[in-house]
Amino acid sequence: MLLNDIQEILYDEEQIRHKVKELGQQLSRDFENRNPLVICILKGAFIFMADLVKAMDIPLEIDFMAVSSYGASTKSSGVVKIVKDLDVPVEGRDVLIVEDIIDSGLTLSYLRRNLLARNPASLEVCALLVRDTTDLDEIAVRHVGFTIPQKFVIGYGLDAAERFRNLPYIAVYEGPTDH
Ligand code: IMP
Ligand code: MG
Repeated sequence: MLLNDIQEILYDEEQIRHKVKELGQQLSRDFENRNPLVICILKGAFIFMADLVKAMDIPLEIDFMAVSSYGASTKSSGVVKIVKDLDVPVEGRDVLIVEDIIDSGLTLSYLRRNLLARNPASLEVCALLVRDTTDLDEIAVRHVGFTIPQKFVIGYGLDAAERFRNLPYIAVYEGPTDH
């Protein structure tokens, strides 16, 4: 049963909606007249991305990139690989990476290096969640939704071994893990 694996709801639908709207307004100001290329990092960011671009009232384009760093485990494998690359070139574009959660920062630093090598005009990051241990200056992430504790979370796109992405809220996962 789904709910047996959920310990606590961290952010409900209303709190998420409010935060995403705020981020959308912030980003609309920052990217006004720049026609940004907004890149959704699959799979985890898919729901956040959909809500976020709806909250941005400026011209923009979207693309998708799938990376894998965790496999089915709740612990980092330490390996990031591109499962699906972008369809469009980023050279000369103002790029905004949309991420679900920044944990160790491994995925983001890989992505940043990879995309910067393609010569974008600029590169910014918007993450729905970051850990409270993360140094935002160090990882250079300007747009952040919520800061969360060192607990494994699920829902609103985030998974535990591919499950729970469809939950409309963000919760702490307490179910079985493979480590
Ligand atoms: P990092 O490379 O350690 O920063 O991990 C980033 C990626 O790990 C995210 O894009 C997520 O896919 C996954 N991840 C990290 N923490 C969690 C979590 O608490 N729940 C679900 N996925 C997570
Ligand atoms: Mg994941």
